Amino acid sequence: MFGASAAAVARVTLPLLALLPLVQSNDNGLALTPPMGWMAWERFRCDTDCNDDPRNCISEALFRDMADRLSEDGWRELGFEYVIIDDCWMNRTRDRDGKLQPDANRFPSGIPHLAQYVHARGLKLGIYADMGRFTCMGFPGTTLDRITTDAQTFADWGVDYLKFDGCNSNALEQMLGYPLMSRALNATGRPMVFSCSWPVYVGSLPPEVNYTLLGDICHLWRNYYDIQDSWDSVQFLMDWFFNNQDFIQAAAGPGHWNDPDMLIVGNFGLSLDQSRAQMALWSIMAAPLIMSNDLRQLDNAARGILQNKGAIAIDQDALGQQGRRLLKEKSRIEVYWRPLVDSASAVVFLSRRSDMPFLYRTTLGKLGYGAGHYQVYDVFSESKLKTLNSTETFSVSINPSGVVMWHLQPMGRQDPGV
Ligand code: GLA
Repeated sequence: MFGASAAAVARVTLPLLALLPLVQSNDNGLALTPPMGWMAWERFRCDTDCNDDPRNCISEALFRDMADRLSEDGWRELGFEYVIIDDCWMNRTRDRDGKLQPDANRFPSGIPHLAQYVHARGLKLGIYADMGRFTCMGFPGTTLDRITTDAQTFADWGVDYLKFDGCNSNALEQMLGYPLMSRALNATGRPMVFSCSWPVYVGSLPPEVNYTLLGDICHLWRNYYDIQDSWDSVQFLMDWFFNNQDFIQAAAGPGHWNDPDMLIVGNFGLSLDQSRAQMALWSIMAAPLIMSNDLRQLDNAARGILQNKGAIAIDQDALGQQGRRLLKEKSRIEVYWRPLVDSASAVVFLSRRSDMPFLYRTTLGKLGYGAGHYQVYDVFSESKLKTLNSTETFSVSINPSGVVMWHLQPMGRQDPGV
């Protein structure tokens, strides 16, 4: 399709669309809760220098190392199951049959072998491709005429998850390409999670983005910019997602999720309080919990935050309803809330202050809770607090750029066991 006019693209592709079965790719029982796992991009980027940086370059050894860590360090049991290759895995050219192929020096055993390695550890393999002429880093892209071939290649290789980026294509190609890839993946018969970067490339919000259609064809989608290794970046993303909650919240649910991008906990940019804040806010958003860090050298504090069972249970709650920002106080305290199964809920108090731990006073009634008593569990101190009546004033001490995260259960109901 290189150089083809929009009309020519449509002439070729529209009849093709009509021929494909009208089954939705995301209607395959996958991603009923937000996907969890590990992805290379934020931490390892496009490091292809395996001579000088063999431990960190994008190579089969890196993904094997991460599969080892996920399966041996308690991650898999918590639900972190996808090991996802990002950009820069490919050879600069397709093979003689027009198929994508990995860089032979960095992936000498090939992707099927890596998939077997990952599967043998009870994990799943994700891969990256781009709806366009080239990937964002200039490797071969998937133009409209290559979609069926690439979907079949991934299925043949034993891939379980596709991140489909959108660099180097126009809006019409994307409008045709994302649904086509969804159907092509489905037509292979291999269940694969489909992650779409489409909204990022068309303005992120309605009317340019049709979130109903996205939910029909993708299991998750990147709405907005790439995360970077800093608290500024985490705040920038959380602000966009909560400022636009009225547009995007309803789009999320079992099988289809908004994706504010990877967890950067365990890298260089966040303090421990900021790390808890990312974990807490991502869980309130029902975000995919996809880490991008070096699992071979995580300290215990970062590991404890990422492996916090209460936060994970909130993120993975079966109701699948994305949470909201309830309040922005003048004191620069913000309150976030998410409803959970069995009338339970999660609340996060976030401080945007930079002075000292702030004592925030409120009542559950002021936060919208109905009359009654609630059993409160503090997620990060992993302790049950006293029961609260909805009218009773309580105070929480919130560290600068930190959070307090609570799980609340109305009294008289089953203990959720978090
Ligand atoms: C885009 C995506 C990132 C990453 C890079 C790879 O920027 O949004 O997540 O996949 O491309 O080049």
